[in-house]
Amino acid sequence: MSSKNDLYRPAIHFSPAFGWLNDPNGLVYSEGQWHMFYQYYPMDTVWGPMHWGHAVSQNLVTWQHYPIALAPDELGNMFSGSAIVDKANTSGLFEKESEANLVAYYTASLPSSDTSLADYQTQCLAYSVDQGLNWIKYEQNPILNNPKIECFRDPKVFWFEQAKHWVMVITHGQSIGIYYSKNMVDWELSSDFGAEEGHHSNGPWECPDLFPLTAQNGVTKWIMVVGIGDGCYAPGSGTQYFIGDFDGKKFTNDGPADKVLWMDYGRDYYATQSWFNAPDNKRIAISWMSNWRYARQTETKTFRGIMTLPREFSLILNESGHYILRQSFYESVSYFLNETMPNDNVGVFRVKGKVMLEIGEEIEINLFEEDCPQFIFKRLDAKTISIINNRLYLGSDKVMEDEFPHNYTSNITNEKFENDLEIIVDKGAVELLFADGTFSMTQLYFPDKIENKIQITGSGQFLSIAEDSK
Ligand code: FRU
Repeated sequence: MSSKNDLYRPAIHFSPAFGWLNDPNGLVYSEGQWHMFYQYYPMDTVWGPMHWGHAVSQNLVTWQHYPIALAPDELGNMFSGSAIVDKANTSGLFEKESEANLVAYYTASLPSSDTSLADYQTQCLAYSVDQGLNWIKYEQNPILNNPKIECFRDPKVFWFEQAKHWVMVITHGQSIGIYYSKNMVDWELSSDFGAEEGHHSNGPWECPDLFPLTAQNGVTKWIMVVGIGDGCYAPGSGTQYFIGDFDGKKFTNDGPADKVLWMDYGRDYYATQSWFNAPDNKRIAISWMSNWRYARQTETKTFRGIMTLPREFSLILNESGHYILRQSFYESVSYFLNETMPNDNVGVFRVKGKVMLEIGEEIEINLFEEDCPQFIFKRLDAKTISIINNRLYLGSDKVMEDEFPHNYTSNITNEKFENDLEIIVDKGAVELLFADGTFSMTQLYFPDKIENKIQITGSGQFLSIAEDSK
């Protein structure tokens, strides 16, 4: 029988079978399989010497657990990084050209007592020809030595077609280093982004990602995604993004330097990474669904840490003529909700529909139990909707009691009377998308009971949308 603490093992979100999980790593699609590696400590349910765990999926919802991919070595613990398919064998590490040639880039982090740095972080490479089951660590690791930067980590590598070179974006303290390489092994620094832009707090700019998206009008923009472990609005960990241009060596932000675009307005959306090589040029991403403020204390027993649902990113031009990121749940999520909802649906459900609000009207949505997780959407004036999120925690841990409960309000500019709303609840993992997916709020909850008791009230209208048939 599962203990009360296992109540919160989600049904359609990824969780490790046991042990601790944080960031998604090495997201790569190869030979029909979605690979997800992740920051993993198998010996305990708190953060420890990092390994890369490994899971494989055909649909991004059901996952098969694979053996640990990378374990600590004399260069350090296996911190976050990325993976790519070296189809053309540009690295020369493989015997032939093949879709199966996988290369992983990771940070080796040496807890160091004999250097002036807290941890000594270098970049390393490993490669595999058997779908990531066995990895060969490159003999001449590290491929990038530490340039005397205390936080030098989380390499994300991708191919830049116009210049025919590989690009690596990487944490450079509180900015992002941009490197390039022709052979995937020798890297040259080309620029550094962000020292004067976006949000800065006491933490480093972690887990960067950089990718292009093309809007419906044919315009392509580059999105730079950056996590900050603490000091964000929610508060705690948060993920910001920039929209701009990239010439293969330098990223230029379109917006004003002091403008901050948050990817999510909840507390549990961090270390966002997108898949390399996803089919149909889609940009599919996933995030760690927790927050460093309380990640080590959340109320689970046999495992700790889950991922968000996979999301597809797209670029849209908003009413005020600015490009903005749109998120939607990956298409297979709907299919699985429809399949599982009628039967095995305790604690797993979706609220999907349209929220219609005149000035002064509001809609209140209660999930699970009265006065448990609650969202209120209120039209303040012709342009603004306020979204209030209340939460309740009924636990005993001191850190959770101090850090976890949080009520907050976000105001969004939106002139539309009618807005799409989608909330997916999976045993206490709650993800909300609003206003064409331009507003996202991702939250963990630990309610006493997880029975579905959705209650929608208020003076505004809520039009429930029937699900597509299977
Ligand atoms: C982000 C992070 C990364 C680092 C990893 C260590 O959550 O701090 O910067 O590589 O976690 O587990």
